[in-house]
Parts: sequence; C-alpha cells; structure tokens
Amino acid sequence: MGRTPSCVHIQTQTPTLAHQTHTPRASAAMATTPSPPPSATTMRAVQYDGYGGGAEGLKHVEVPIPSPKKGEVLIKMEAASINPIDWKIQKGMLRPFLPWKFPSIPACDLAGEVAAVGGGVRGFELGDKVIAINFPSGGGFAEYAVAQASLTVARPPEVSAAEGACLPLAAVTALQALRAAGAGLDDAPPPKNVLVTAASGGVGHFAVQLARLGGHRVTATCGARNLALVAGELGADEALDYATPDGAALRSPSGRRYDAVVHCAPHLPWQVFDRVLAEGDTGGVVVDITPSPAALATALLHRVTFSKKRLTPFMFSPSKADMELLVAMARQGKLKPAVDSCHPLSDAPAAWARSMGGHATGKVVVKIGEEE
Ligand SMILES: NC(=O)c1ccc[n+]([C@@H]2O[C@H](COP(=O)([O-])OP(=O)(O)OC[C@H]3O[C@@H](n4cnc5c(N)ncnc54)[C@H](OP(=O)(O)O)[C@@H]3O)[C@@H](O)[C@H]2O)c1
Repeated sequence: MGRTPSCVHIQTQTPTLAHQTHTPRASAAMATTPSPPPSATTMRAVQYDGYGGGAEGLKHVEVPIPSPKKGEVLIKMEAASINPIDWKIQKGMLRPFLPWKFPSIPACDLAGEVAAVGGGVRGFELGDKVIAINFPSGGGFAEYAVAQASLTVARPPEVSAAEGACLPLAAVTALQALRAAGAGLDDAPPPKNVLVTAASGGVGHFAVQLARLGGHRVTATCGARNLALVAGELGADEALDYATPDGAALRSPSGRRYDAVVHCAPHLPWQVFDRVLAEGDTGGVVVDITPSPAALATALLHRVTFSKKRLTPFMFSPSKADMELLVAMARQGKLKPAVDSCHPLSDAPAAWARSMGGHATGKVVVKIGEEE
C-alpha cells in the first residue's frame, strides 16, 4: 500500500514528542529492562471514573502496575489502538448486559513486550514483542497491561507496534465477518460479489483487503475524500461515495448484485439491501456488525421465514489463531493496517475524541513509553 510496505499513515494528528509530559516515576519505569524492577510499582495510565464524559472524562493517573495472574502475561506497552466499543463502554451502552467496574483504563488492543508472565504461561520470554487483546476489560492506556497468554501472539519486526496494535479487534472482526458472510479467505470458488460499507473505517479497511485476498470482487462505500484510498491502495474494484444517491442506495456501478455484505456503517433499512442482494437459491447475506433493534427484528423474521436473502447480526470472538493469521499476512506485506493518527499517551483524550468523532480513516493509535 503506497510507498510504505506495511503501514499507511493517513493523517498525523498529534504525534510530536514535544507534547509529552512524563512524571519522574514514569520515566524510571520506562527506562527499565523488560521486567519491572521492584522499585517501579506504579505506572502512568489514563482512566475514567464513571459512565459518560467522553474525552473530558479521561484522567491522567499514577496507579499500581498490574500483576499477571495465572495464564496471563504482563505487557510493557508500546501502542494501543482504539475501537468504538471502548468509548461505547464508557457511554454505558453495554450497561444493561455488562455492568462496568470503575475506575477503568480503556483500550483492548495491545502491543508491546512481555515484561512478566503469570503461572503456567509457556511460550513467552521476557522481552518478546507481542500483540494481544484484553476484551472487553481493556487496560491499554497505560505503561503496563495484562492479557491472557492464550490471546497474545508474537509480533515480528516487520510489523511495527502501531501496526500490530491495529489488528486484534478490527482485523479479526473483518476476517470473521467475511467468513460469516461466506466470503472468507478459504471459501470455495466461485468468487463472491462482496460489499463492504464504511470501507474507510477500522474494520472496513481490513475487510476490503481481506476480501480481495480471498479472491472476491469488492464494492465498497466510503466518503468522497477516501474514494482513492479505498479503490486504490485497499484494492476495492468499485468505490461508492455514500453521500451520493447511488452510494446511499448501495448501487454497484457495474450492476453487481451482492452475495455477501459486511455492513460496518450505521443502520440502513432492510429495503436498501433487499434491492441489491443476489437473488436465487443462495440469496445474499448481510452481516451486520452494529445491528440496531430494527435490524435484530429483521434478522429474526428472516430466520423464522427461512428467507434466502437474510440479515445476520454479528459479534466478533477474540481468537489467537486469527490474530496469528493476520500478523503473518501483515508481516508478508499482504495486509496493511491504515493508521489514521498516532497520539502519545499524554494526549490520549485527543485520540479518544478522534475515534468518537466517527471520521477516522483506518485506526486511531496511542503510542506509549519509548514509542511516544
Ligand atoms: N460486532 C462486532 O464484533 C464489532 C467489532 C468491531 C466494530 N464493531 C462496530 O462496527 C462499527 C464500525 O467500527 P469501526 O472500527 O470500523 O469504526 P470507525 O473506524 O470509527 O469508522 C469510521 C469510518 O466510517 C465511515 N462512515 C461513517 N458513516 C458512513 C456511512 N454511512 N457510509 C460509509 N462510511 C461511513 C467514516 O467515513 P467518513 O469520515 O467519510 O464519514 C469513517 O472513515 C462501530 O459501530 C463498531 O462499534 C462491531
């Protein structure tokens, strides 16, 4: 993608070292070798204390370094990426199903090096470069974070910490959503007509690349400013501006009917999909990664009526095997994380606000420690 082999930096929001403010204690912790010395018991972190508050609800704090429990690794953080679920949790959107504990250090996508291991952990040495997911608890906005060893994978030198941090949630979601739509990397031929909506976003930009890697034909929707990226570097065959009548109607310029849709954009009425899905025995499937109540009702109706065209609500599942697959593709330069912007931990609220704004191109990354 472009001139850089494994990463596209779409915009640079606030990456300068000049903005950093390190406490003396934090600097001491950052200068250590992989395992935190006994004297370094606290770390810099950014956390919130209750529901709501957005970026202004984030506070810079000095808190104890967590200890890895059985089966966990302690990661000295280099980068974290933000996913909308991180700030949706802060908004209280999961409150009915998952009451939250406060204070909470957000960010589930982690990249760094192994600083300590808990009991029973095999296969990791201190200093190993890794990526991990700690979903939904988070913990990434800190100098140290813990993750299950079973959801931690090695990061090769070809994949930077920032790029690695983009993969665990968004790229795994893209991969699994394509599989759920029958347009995975290994699905049997013939190639499918795939539509990816919000193709410039964290999930969508991976979905376009993965669908192309699977040999499928890809139509994608995005804003006008991202048409060149989506149809060029990401490799979509067709790109539609979602603000135009054709884009809003998801109408393929070449008249394609879609076998598989990975719907990453906000809710659209079922009628919009119905008009553009493939007909016939198999019908077309819409995998909706943010299903609204109306979409859930539609999905239920399709299920009980055995509808050929159907909507399927989707929730990703953290997966070590999928992370390893994606890291391998990134190492080979086949899959390229697009980094919207990199922010130092000291400016994490700006990163949070950028993600909450809903107009990131690719992933919003927070760099931590020596990477800042
Ligand atoms: N179910 C799951 O397992 C799962 C997993 C991950 C994410 N999600 C959800 O999936 C959604 C997308 O996540 P994400 O990380 O990709 O979000 P994101 O990175 O914040 O998406 C931002 C992108 O969406 C584009 N966009 C916004 N409205 C659009 C529209 N109507 N048509 C086309 N593009 C549009 C924006 O383009 P412009 O700037 O040009 O407007 C922007 O580039 C979120 O709601 C997230 O919570 C669900």
